[in-house]
Amino acid sequence: MTARHNLLSPELKANPYPAYADLRRNAPVCQVDPGGMWAVSRYEDVMYVLKNPQLFSSTGFGAATNPPWLGGNPLSDSMLAQDPPLHGRLRGLISRAFGASAISRMEPRVRDIAREAVAALPLGQSFDVMQPYALRIPASVIGDLLGVEPALHARLKRWADLITGGVTTVRPEEEDRKQLARDAVRELKTYFGELLERRRQEPGEDMLSDLVRLRVDGEALSTDELLAFCAMLLVGGIETAVNMLGTSLLVLAERPELLARLREERSRIPAFLEEVLRYEPPIHAAPRVTTQDVEVGGTHLPAGSRVLTLIGSACRDDAQYPDADRFDLDRPGPQNLPFGHGIHFCLGAQLARLEGRLALEAVLERVGRLERGPEPMTWHRTLVVRGPGTLPLVLHPV
Ligand code: HEM
Repeated sequence: MTARHNLLSPELKANPYPAYADLRRNAPVCQVDPGGMWAVSRYEDVMYVLKNPQLFSSTGFGAATNPPWLGGNPLSDSMLAQDPPLHGRLRGLISRAFGASAISRMEPRVRDIAREAVAALPLGQSFDVMQPYALRIPASVIGDLLGVEPALHARLKRWADLITGGVTTVRPEEEDRKQLARDAVRELKTYFGELLERRRQEPGEDMLSDLVRLRVDGEALSTDELLAFCAMLLVGGIETAVNMLGTSLLVLAERPELLARLREERSRIPAFLEEVLRYEPPIHAAPRVTTQDVEVGGTHLPAGSRVLTLIGSACRDDAQYPDADRFDLDRPGPQNLPFGHGIHFCLGAQLARLEGRLALEAVLERVGRLERGPEPMTWHRTLVVRGPGTLPLVLHPV
């Protein structure tokens, strides 16, 4: 290994995979920039960390997203940032809302959302697909799920950005950005606080109404618990799926033979999505903190070490996925690691897969061919999330 890698450097934002390969080969558990966190890059070690929450706590996520200058962040109190036993209690409460029958009930609505978004896309000219396609679909799905009025769906992503990357990437002198994050927390709490109150008075058919009605040993969930849940759904459901939808189109634009094959064999769409998620996972890292002195991959980490579990690297580990840098539609699946592993395994995995499938079906109905536009694309990246920032494409009609 040449020098300590900076995971947020422009080169790694554009393409982190050569650096990941270097880490796996030469320093599978080592400190990286920014901040000297311990990067764990091999599949086997990533699984070990995710399987052992008693050694690798998720509470560091809460601390990272709630610095003292912010004055509170509902996301930091969500189950994503909790360990057992509290994590299990919160997850038990809401997991029914994400069960197989709940997801299949959502299918007609998600299909409508996908078709409406695709019907509005221009054909025959280059445009950035991220906003009108990749973002619009998951923002509308989560907005609907929570009962948020459609005019506000676009704002959900802004809040999600500001309470995650908008907090964790702020430098000490950036007072303007701190204020933006504080404003976002205030707006989110005010908006969802009022929405919760309305649902208490007048319950509807959405998930928030179900949660407001829920009683655990006779007790209702507190407003803070409900706000944490809303913040987590915005971040978990939008920040991730937007990247999956964007990279799906990028892969198809770069490999026209795949589009032709999916058109012939629609039943391969789920396999295609699994490979997209492995090849370009939307979540590249799950942050943890060691609860005691531990050993990972032969390296000793003292108690209190901040660990970055590099899912993005594990998904390209040849030891687990032969010829891992090759996109292979026929690779045996499903690929679950992009959705994490263990007690925090993504609660929305089936919903994400449904969105991905229905979005692609809508594209195949209207688009015969797609190609990269003349403008360059960009990648955005925080320590946790990676995906296209802008993705200019030209869609041609069937
Ligand atoms: C392609 C899309 C998605 C990907 C790649 C993804 C990935 C992940 C990953 C890696 C985790 C584990 C984080 C950790 O261990 O620290 C996670 C957790 C979670 N995800 Fe997703 N996710 C996606 C979509 C969604 C959607 C659509 C929803 C909700 C509607 C959702 C809700 C959640 C929740 C609630 C958790 C926390 C589970 C827990 O802490 O027990 N995700 N997701």
